[in-house]
Amino acid sequence: MTTPFEPFEPRRVEHQQTDRGYVPVYTTEVVEQPWSKYSRTDNEVWASLFQRQREMLQGRACRELLENTERFGMRADRIPKFEDLNKVLRRATGWEIIGVEGLIPETVFFEHLSKRRFPVTWWIRKPEQLDYISEPDLFHDLFGHVPLLLNPVFADYVHAYGCGGVKASKLGPEALMNLTRLYWYTVEFGLIRTDEGLRIYGAGIASSKGESIYCLESAAPNRIGFDLERVMRTRYRIDTYQKTYFVIDSFESLFEATRPDLTPVYAKLRTLSPHAAGDVLSSDRVNQRGTREGWATDGDV
Ligand code: CO
Repeated sequence: MTTPFEPFEPRRVEHQQTDRGYVPVYTTEVVEQPWSKYSRTDNEVWASLFQRQREMLQGRACRELLENTERFGMRADRIPKFEDLNKVLRRATGWEIIGVEGLIPETVFFEHLSKRRFPVTWWIRKPEQLDYISEPDLFHDLFGHVPLLLNPVFADYVHAYGCGGVKASKLGPEALMNLTRLYWYTVEFGLIRTDEGLRIYGAGIASSKGESIYCLESAAPNRIGFDLERVMRTRYRIDTYQKTYFVIDSFESLFEATRPDLTPVYAKLRTLSPHAAGDVLSSDRVNQRGTREGWATDGDV
């Protein structure tokens, strides 16, 4: 019997120069999760990261994130099966996760979100990448993003974001840049105010050991109250910890702020120059003004 050729490596198409640097671009198709083919090492990487971050996030991540990891039944011993997660997710908020090879073009990403499909990278990082990986992998996507999709308000926010992206694609690259910054400073690197203090909800932080400490405990970064136009005007970091974290008051208030038609906002922002990642403005609601210690002097995107 012949075995059909099955590449068990992500199928990278090409590298492309983008606003996020020179990045790999993958095939855009939806792929089946090759669950039974994960190696022992793959599962061990998952286990180490899962255990480490679950402990790290106690008292640091918002309750919704921690509780929903439990509700999914995500466990350290085995990489979760997308199909098992989807049974819980579909019933709760009508979302589902789909397997992809890695970063996909923005327009394809928006299309999926607008249909309540969250793309999850099927492969996991190598053991030598536990502390840092420059592109999203399965751990970042599943542990960082997927739990909050069980929260009804956050689920609706990400859906509205996808619809907004489809719309903004027709308005031009500046509108898309504004939206990308919004995603970056909320879904990826957002902090939320709670009765117990500031907490993490952004997936880029939640999946990073170093940044989950840094974003809350370091004196270096700014922590500033969320304001939609302010965030949409602010450049960000892709290769260092953020210089500024924006703090929302609740998922409801985040969703409300983005509910109006943003076409006039994009038009206004087109006439204004962007803020640097580390700027503090007189109009900011400053929670902490960073000491700027250890900041790189260039490289905002
Ligand atoms: Co992400």
